[in-house]
Amino acid sequence: MTQEEVIAVLQDALKAELAAVEMYGAHAKAIPEAAVSEGVQAILEVEQEHAANLSRRIRELGGRPVEPGGPSTVAGRVATAASQALRTVDMLRLELGEEQTAIKHYAMAVAEIMDDEDTLSMLTEHLQDEIAHATWMKRQIRALGATR
Ligand SMILES: [Fe+2]
Ligand SMILES: [Fe+2]
Repeated sequence: MTQEEVIAVLQDALKAELAAVEMYGAHAKAIPEAAVSEGVQAILEVEQEHAANLSRRIRELGGRPVEPGGPSTVAGRVATAASQALRTVDMLRLELGEEQTAIKHYAMAVAEIMDDEDTLSMLTEHLQDEIAHATWMKRQIRALGATR
């Protein structure tokens, strides 16, 4: 993978992280169960760190990171606008979908980047965090009695 291709992968990951931050923020406010809401808030803070890591690495590689609130994160705001009408389990399912996509994208990048060890170790950490997030969400969905 060329450096430009690595930067493109990091930009895509950054857009997904920013969209997740927007969605999880809306969900943390909307979820009535305090323990679930606090869990989502804690995960949101990890996603903010991921976004900061990605922005820093894109700059180090000579790129210009996308900014929050722009057109590239519109998916997060669409989900945000819809979340008032959702049940907790529906919000958790949307979040789990974000995590599952992130796991696949980070795993693909970790598999394919050959020679940029700083980027590889950052992406490996993100991957492990996303797996932990997905595990937590699956557990919440099970506890709410809805595994389908
Ligand atoms: Fe993340
Ligand atoms: Fe995550």
